[in-house]
Amino acid sequence: MSSSLEKKFETFEKRMKAAEKGGGEERIEKQHASNKKTARERIERLLDPGSFVELDKLVIHRARDFNMEKNLIPGDGVVSGHGKIDGRLVYIFAQDFTVFGGTLSRANADKVIKVMELAMKMGAPVIGLNDSGGARIQEGVQSLAGYADIFHLNVKSSGVVPQISAILGPCAGGAVYSPALTDFIFMVKKTSYMFVTGPDVIKTVTHEDVTKNELGGAMTHNTKSGVAHFAAEDDVQCMMMIRELISYLPSNNMEDPPVKICTDDINREEEKLQTLIPDDPNKPYDITDLVGAVVDDGAFLEVQPHYAKNIFIGFARLAGQPVGIVANQPAHLAGVLDINSSIKGARFVRFCDAFNIPLVTFEDVPGFLPGTLQEFGGIIKHGAKLLYAFSEATVPKITVITRKAYGGAYCVMSSKHIGADMNFAYPTGEIAVMGSEGAVNILYRHKISSDKDRTKLIDEYKETFANPYKAAELGYIDEIIMPRQTRAKLIQALEMTQNKTEIKPPKKHGNIPL
Ligand code: HXC
Repeated sequence: MSSSLEKKFETFEKRMKAAEKGGGEERIEKQHASNKKTARERIERLLDPGSFVELDKLVIHRARDFNMEKNLIPGDGVVSGHGKIDGRLVYIFAQDFTVFGGTLSRANADKVIKVMELAMKMGAPVIGLNDSGGARIQEGVQSLAGYADIFHLNVKSSGVVPQISAILGPCAGGAVYSPALTDFIFMVKKTSYMFVTGPDVIKTVTHEDVTKNELGGAMTHNTKSGVAHFAAEDDVQCMMMIRELISYLPSNNMEDPPVKICTDDINREEEKLQTLIPDDPNKPYDITDLVGAVVDDGAFLEVQPHYAKNIFIGFARLAGQPVGIVANQPAHLAGVLDINSSIKGARFVRFCDAFNIPLVTFEDVPGFLPGTLQEFGGIIKHGAKLLYAFSEATVPKITVITRKAYGGAYCVMSSKHIGADMNFAYPTGEIAVMGSEGAVNILYRHKISSDKDRTKLIDEYKETFANPYKAAELGYIDEIIMPRQTRAKLIQALEMTQNKTEIKPPKKHGNIPL
């Protein structure tokens, strides 16, 4: 090899190494000391081994104020490219906190935009690993423009390819809005936080004392605000959780979700389901016991498990086919629908519909939560979100009424009337305008003379209404099934609906009650 050729190859190696060093050893050590992995280490954990193809490794910023021309680090604070998860293409960008605090420059924003545009063109999910001080102060409005361009693309990509965000460090100010526009947000306990304005500004404006973690830590957003969907113990667990989520999702809205080989008996009957639903309507049970008994291998991924626990949402498989499950949770607030659970359910239903994931609904709901807090908070418009989402969804919709299906909540929870394709009920189903005690109190308010009278009237009401037979006589319930048959019946219904087509009238878009 000639010496000139050798020199060229050496230059290449040197430049690659410099880019891979990011902000240098000292800053990498600082990152590790804060219990955080570097951008490259995260990517390595997330993707199939050896599958990462880096793009724009040598990109540098173009800022010339604040002596920035003397501070050029190849890659410019974000590592981006594509790779594979379980052999399937994904696009990725990971902010590198060791380089200018992972802040967003114009050049760095353009790298993110490039992978987002490629993801849409190739029809593959985009995963953003966020760890950044936000807008790069030295670049002023150029940085803000970069953010706004990304927001615009987030919206354009919404419903086209799955977009997933992990928050693995700071995410503050307007920077929070890119993750907020994506489909799922993962956060890591103790090391990540998100807020629009930080503790210092809050102290000045409202005189409240609050720590960063209380204000915007992983558990705040997983339990209180509902902004985040998953909480991980550390970066490595977070990457594993993202891989699991991806396994249920199609790569884009034109694809069906990936079917896995199913080794669980599709006709498996579960005897324990026969006695899971207590005879006493006031007794709770855990809906995850039912979900676990029905789905393939008892495996499901619960979404937002810490938030609005009165509704369960999550992904699972039936005969290998991914499904989205929405279920009232009688073990929490009797499974009542309130503002938070309606919003949680509605967003999930819309995600599944956008990405061709059939919806399975388990219903045991006493109604909407009464109270001034709920009414003043707008339960009317928030409850309508769930109604709207189920109504507009054109994916296969299968419903099982396990016990209570009362009032407006009966209509909302994927009833036949709003387009469900198969509506089952257990013999324990109670489908009526309201529960027996409430109904008797209203109907016979001035006519009940004794407790004995009341008990008799309640029994009569139960006999007439608190069952699934009236609805079945009217064709609102397609089939009454034994609880033990649930798995086989759901799989049969899914097979029946697999070629479903439903054309809606053309329109620009609907107007969901936001
Ligand atoms: C330029 C920044 C920066 C920023 C951090 N750095 N934030 N450089 N612009 N916004 C640099 C630091 O100078 C430092 O460089 C390196 O990143 C690491 O920062 P440290 O402060 O040493 O780290 P740490 O102590 O861990 O604190 C991290 C931090 C803090 C909490 C993120 O840096 C911070 O508060 N930064 C400002 C955050 C902020 O207000 N951003 C604007 C948000 S508004 P050296 O060279 O010393 O390593 C926003 C608007 C978006 O983003 C608008 C969208 C429409």
